[in-house]
Amino acid sequence: MKFFIDTASIVDIQEAASLGLLDGVTTNPTLLSREDGDPREILREITKIVDGPVSAEVVALDAEGMVREGLELRKISDNIVVKIPMTLEGLKAVRALSDQGVPTNCTLIFSPSQALMAAKAGATYASPFVGRLDDISADGMGLIEQICAIYDNYGLATEVLVASVRHPEHVVKAGIIGAHVVTMPLKVINQLAKHPLTDIGLKQFLADWEKTKNR
Ligand code: E4P
Repeated sequence: MKFFIDTASIVDIQEAASLGLLDGVTTNPTLLSREDGDPREILREITKIVDGPVSAEVVALDAEGMVREGLELRKISDNIVVKIPMTLEGLKAVRALSDQGVPTNCTLIFSPSQALMAAKAGATYASPFVGRLDDISADGMGLIEQICAIYDNYGLATEVLVASVRHPEHVVKAGIIGAHVVTMPLKVINQLAKHPLTDIGLKQFLADWEKTKNR
């Protein structure tokens, strides 16, 4: 399973990259709006830190505009993946870009039918938002199961990129289901490594080791 970080924070990306297990980055207009500076320059810096796919989202609403913006974003770096919203115009843009060999991430997916459409349009990644579904008492991880089953049935090449991840349990369930990628904030990456029994065990080992010092 690939681990992406879901942020535009250079500090957080550097921290996650230093762990040596970061495969890529997803950004969106909201995440970029939280950082100081020109979004294009921030994206350029991110692509220098991470040697993997970096999703950058278009803001045009028509297919032609999305393709134009996507091709501009690709000039930043070869590892930019053009993130396109799941709309009918978005599907046209995904098809046009994918026909030109440009990798795409179809975002804002909330149903299996949307994910199927994204795959048929040739998206490299489809991003279902599990946390936002859970927020409205829907079943985020149930959606991942459905999408993975559909993609498996037809051998669709699009990778399921689990997004809007709120806690480690989302990541574990995504792994059990077999989703290809999970994107998450640094907080969740750090939580994945945590267990209270690890902390208690380590404290005890160090305390016991101290007792050997005066021998
Ligand atoms: C995915 O690519 C999105 O950037 C992100 O996961 C959305 O998460 P949120 O629901 O926490 O905003």
